[in-house]
Amino acid sequence: MRSIQTIIILLTFLCFLIDAATIPEEHRKRSSDGTSGKTLEPRGKPRRQRKPGHRRKKKDEGMPKYFHEPGGTQLGNHYDSRYHHGIQDYADRKDTQLHLLRAYLTFFNVNHIETWLAHGTLLGWWWNGKMLPWDWDIDTQVSGSTLKYLGDRWNGTHYDYVSPDDPPVKRTYLLDVNPASIERERGNGNNIIDARWIDTSNGLYIDITGLSETHPDDQPGVWACKNYHRYHTTDLYPMRETMYEGVIAKVPYAYDRILTQEYNERALVLTDYQGHRWDPVVKEWLPKSEEELEEDRKEKEAADQIKEAQKKREEAKKEEADKKQEAEKEKKLREQERKDKEKAEKEKERADKKAEVQRLKAQQILMREKSKKAKEVEQPKNSVKGSNHNNVDAQHKAKAGEQWNGEARV
Ligand SMILES: *[C@@H]1O[C@H](CO)[C@@H](O)[C@H](O)[C@H]1NC(C)=O
Repeated sequence: MRSIQTIIILLTFLCFLIDAATIPEEHRKRSSDGTSGKTLEPRGKPRRQRKPGHRRKKKDEGMPKYFHEPGGTQLGNHYDSRYHHGIQDYADRKDTQLHLLRAYLTFFNVNHIETWLAHGTLLGWWWNGKMLPWDWDIDTQVSGSTLKYLGDRWNGTHYDYVSPDDPPVKRTYLLDVNPASIERERGNGNNIIDARWIDTSNGLYIDITGLSETHPDDQPGVWACKNYHRYHTTDLYPMRETMYEGVIAKVPYAYDRILTQEYNERALVLTDYQGHRWDPVVKEWLPKSEEELEEDRKEKEAADQIKEAQKKREEAKKEEADKKQEAEKEKKLREQERKDKEKAEKEKERADKKAEVQRLKAQQILMREKSKKAKEVEQPKNSVKGSNHNNVDAQHKAKAGEQWNGEARV
């Protein structure tokens, strides 16, 4: 009795404890005044809210995109959103790009900042020391240390430019260095362009990317930009001083290797490209005439038709092969089905036979028993000794009594 009482008291106490622990008010009060243990803390800590305008500085990973383009069409991507107001026509754009580049190279040269031509801009230099007229991108590169210097010393520079033409072209260019440029790994890919030289009158720009030895320990002498272009020190240096669009410029030492690696040999020999034709006499890429373009269109149409026909033929061939394969499969399936059926039939036959044999055996046994019984009924006294048949035994038991039974057992 006393132990039952103890259990009841203990249970009551336990219930009280559980109750106390699950009262929400208690819970809240205890955790908010900080006196409670860890188990009473709310599970998920509320997310710390980031203050508006606060950016994580440490890694490029969370960095938002710094340079913005209006986008929309393909050409919209070549303008800086802040200064963009409409897409220019061919002549206007070419003129803008010419001054953009001349001003850039002059600014860098005058201030003894090293920069060199890259990508399509370098390819244009290979042909005739000028920009490729169909190319909307202008690309230059600087070393990682120059990039740092640009950010520290020249970021936000507005460069007023007056061309020597008559009448002179007056423009103001902005050197804008991406704050993500201090991070030399690609990160989230939002900020692969490290800096821009922007025409503030229309938003067209030059993309400036830095090259850094990102893995000096295991890949010394390999320079990379954030867009996976890689160069060896000996491909870049010593830089070659040259002229580009009439002003002093630099190109990497092994420009031919760099170009063939990036564009393959065809880019150095093909004289018909993007609606332009290389004129070897004037050494210029000239836009094709309307007739030439029309001819190109017709040629392309014919080629497309041939391609289309070929494609159709191939498709038909494939369809036929598929059908054949399907039929083959079907045939195999049928064959398998037939085999399975045959096997099942054979098995059934065998089972039937076995059953029949067993049935016959059983019948035989029954008949044998019957005939034995019949014999014994005919001459019951003849079979006293030596018989071990139950039925016969029983009959004899009845006739010979206990004594016989004892005798027979000995
Ligand atoms: C360059 O200047 C702009 C505008 O002030 C600024 O947003 C950017 O972070 C600067 N870049 C660097 C590398 O400091």
